[in-house]
Amino acid sequence: MLLLGIDVGTSSVKVSVVDSETQNAIASAQYPDSESPILSPKPGWAEQAPDMWWQQAQQAIHLCNNSGLYNPDDISAIGIAYQMHGLVLVNKDQQVLRDSIIWCDSRAVDIGNKAFRDIGEKRCLSHLLNSPGNFTASKLAWVKLNEPQIYDQIDKIMLPGDFIAMKLTGEITTSVSALSEGIFFDFINNRLSKDILNYFDFSEDMFPPIQPVFSNHGKLLRSVAEKLKLKAGIPITYKAGDQPNNALSLNVLKPGEVAATAGTSGVIYGVSDKLTFDPQSRVNTFAHVNYTERQKRLGVLLCINGTGRLYSWAKSLFGPSLSFAQMNEKAAQASSGSYGLRILPFGNGTERMLNNKPVGAHFHNIDLNLHGQAYIFRAVQEGIACAFRYGLDIMRENGMNPSVIRAGKANLFLSDLFVEIFVNATGVPVELYKNDGSLGAALGAGTGAGIFASATEAFSNMKKIKVVEPSGNRFEPIYQDWKSLLQTQLAK
Ligand code: XUL
Repeated sequence: MLLLGIDVGTSSVKVSVVDSETQNAIASAQYPDSESPILSPKPGWAEQAPDMWWQQAQQAIHLCNNSGLYNPDDISAIGIAYQMHGLVLVNKDQQVLRDSIIWCDSRAVDIGNKAFRDIGEKRCLSHLLNSPGNFTASKLAWVKLNEPQIYDQIDKIMLPGDFIAMKLTGEITTSVSALSEGIFFDFINNRLSKDILNYFDFSEDMFPPIQPVFSNHGKLLRSVAEKLKLKAGIPITYKAGDQPNNALSLNVLKPGEVAATAGTSGVIYGVSDKLTFDPQSRVNTFAHVNYTERQKRLGVLLCINGTGRLYSWAKSLFGPSLSFAQMNEKAAQASSGSYGLRILPFGNGTERMLNNKPVGAHFHNIDLNLHGQAYIFRAVQEGIACAFRYGLDIMRENGMNPSVIRAGKANLFLSDLFVEIFVNATGVPVELYKNDGSLGAALGAGTGAGIFASATEAFSNMKKIKVVEPSGNRFEPIYQDWKSLLQTQLAK
C-alpha cells in the first residue's frame, strides 16, 4: 500500500510517497526549488499566504506523481506535517481572512507577557505548561485588538496543516497536540483552556472538533482528487506539527528520547512523561503525537528561530552562486574558532530561549584581512551550534539531559562540519538517520490508517547512517567567548 506525506515548511513544501511494506520513499518532490518568501510588512512581523502553501502542496504532489515511479491510484492515506504555531483564519465559507501570522512573527510578545502576568504565572505554567508568550493564542488576541473587522468574520481558527487538510477534504479538525502548541490546552482539566478563552474573550465555537493526531481527519474531495490525479475519498489519517513529526520520524516517542532538526529553525525535542515546564518558558512543553490523558507523552522543545534562516541569509549575501553543499565545503576550509569571529544567530523574530527579547543577529569581531567567505560560513555554523548549546543547558536545568540526540541527515545536519561542531558544542553524540519530515508524515498516515499496529512499528526499518561522538572539550573556550558576547547583548 502507498502512503502520501506532505510537509508544509516555511521555505517549501515537500511530499513523499512511501511504500508501507518497505517503509521507504518511492518518490519525493519539493516545491519551490528556491526559498519561499516570508512577508514582513513591519519589523518583527512574519506572514505567509495560506494559499501559497496550498499552491505549493499541489505542485509538489504533481511533481511526485509525474515521476512515473508509482500508480497514484495506489495511494491509500495522506499525512500532513506543518510549520507550527501559525494562525490561519477562515470565514464560514472557508475563505481565508488574512495572511497567516506565522511562528516567527513577534508582534504578540507584549500581549502574551501581559496575559502571563494577569492570568498568573503559576496558573499558566501548571495548566498550560507555558506562558502564552508569542504563540497562536496571543497572535489571535492581536487580531482581535487590531483588526476587529477581520476578527468578527472568523468562523474557525486553525494551524497551517489544518488549512491544507481543509483544502483537501473540506473538513477542519484539531487535536490536543495542536491546541497545546497554540497555548489553548489546559493539561490539568484536559480541555480547551477556560483561562485563555475567558481572559482573551475568545468564543469556543471558533475551535474545530478535537480528534486524536492519528485518526480520520476527513476524506479527499472528488473535485480536488480529480485535479491532483489521486483517488477520491482517501482519508487524511495523521496531522502534526513539524517538530513532533520530526521526533516521530526518528522514533522518538518514549520518555528520555531526544530528536533535533536544523532547518529554517533549529530544534531539540525531548520526550517526557511529566507535565514539566520551564519557569521562564524559555523552552516549551507541548503534547506529543502519542499523548493521551492516561499515558502522558510531552515534547519539551527548544527552538532557535534563526538557524537555517541565518545560513540561507548568509548564502544570499556572501555566496549567492554557491550551493549549500559548496558553502559547507568552504566552511570546512576555515579554522576552528573562526579567528574570533562570533555570530549570534538571532534575527528571525524574538527567541523564546532569550525570554523573547529582541536581540537580533550580530557579527562580532570581523577582521577585514582575515575573514573571507569561508570564515563567515564557518562562524555562522559555530554561532548556531553555540545557540543549541545555550538552549540545551536550559533543558538540562529542567531535567532533560540527553545521552544521545537523533537527527535526520537533512538541512544543516547534511554538513559533516556542522555535525562535528554541534556534538563538540553540546557534548552529546548525534545519531544520524536517513529520513525526512514528509516520509515521517506518510508513515504517520499509515499508523493513523491502522496499516501499522503502532507508530513504533511504522519506523521499525529506520536506517541509521552513523553516530558522531564528541572529541574532547576544545570547543569550550569558543562557546564561553560566544556566551559572554550574548550576555553583553542581553544586558543592554
Ligand atoms: C517550533 C517552531 C518552529 C516551527 C518551524 O516550536 O516554532 O520549529 O515549527 O516550522
